[in-house]
Amino acid sequence: KRIKLTDSEGNSFSAVVVKGIHLPPFPLVESNINNYDKFHAREDDVWIVNWPKSGTHWVYEVVKLLMTDREELTDTVKEGTMFPEACAVESLEKLPSPRVLDTHVPLKLFPEEALKKSKIIYTLRNPKDAFVSGYYHVKNNVGSGYDGTWNGCFDLTIDENTCVYGSWFDHVADWMEVLENNPNALVVKYEDMQRNLKKEVRRIAEFLGYPKSEEIYENVTKKCSFGHMKKAKKEVKSFWKPGGSMYRKGIVGDWKNHFTVAQNEKFNAIFNEKRNKLRVSVDFEL
Ligand code: A3P
Repeated sequence: KRIKLTDSEGNSFSAVVVKGIHLPPFPLVESNINNYDKFHAREDDVWIVNWPKSGTHWVYEVVKLLMTDREELTDTVKEGTMFPEACAVESLEKLPSPRVLDTHVPLKLFPEEALKKSKIIYTLRNPKDAFVSGYYHVKNNVGSGYDGTWNGCFDLTIDENTCVYGSWFDHVADWMEVLENNPNALVVKYEDMQRNLKKEVRRIAEFLGYPKSEEIYENVTKKCSFGHMKKAKKEVKSFWKPGGSMYRKGIVGDWKNHFTVAQNEKFNAIFNEKRNKLRVSVDFEL
């Protein structure tokens, strides 16, 4: 069902509701997700899962450099997306192994077979920074039609009934419940990647079973630096309004330039109420 989400200041953007979750209005998103029961998981599939704006593209490039003989970043414009919400199950079937697939869906929308068979890397980012990054994503992309303010967008994002991809708190809590102690799963933190990218690159390689030489770890670290990715990655031009980019600031703590004291208190109250359900230490300043 296609709906309009209207913020507290009267600005709106479109979303599609599938099984109670608000999703971006990708063409055919509803049938793509409803067809997940026809999705055949493979043991060598690697899923990159997270709540939006938590470092999907960053981890994707690390994984692709490690799993292939590439020396350069992927070409998103030519190679398209491996984003099952936006791809029909039949087109995913045609992809050669090993597939690297990205998704932001909450656990209840994820294909069950994939959970049993495939490898999952769950990326966590300070949700306050992810909220801010999400604001610029929706405001700067052409298709959303949204021209609201940070304050309006915050109100939609903090509310579990209007948040796109569902509440951050439930996303993390539900996923962690099944991924905790699962040898086929790895949790990667955006802030750890910022602190020591090479260490996280090595962790990811060892988890995937693709250990590499020190020289390759060096190359992956260099190619996946923010500066190199921003310069080298081609973006789908029709997706962004002028000035919009998937590689915006790439820093920790931009939330401090956006959250008001009242917004921070509101966020922290929910966080404190839900923190014992998260099962993972979230490495960020409250
Ligand atoms: P900002 O908007 O805060 O800059 P996703 O890929 O999940 O959509 O996440 C996008 C966010 O990850 C953006 O955050 C983007 O700048 C950041 N990002 C992408 N590549 C990065 C890199 N190599 N280093 C640091 N941050 C990166």
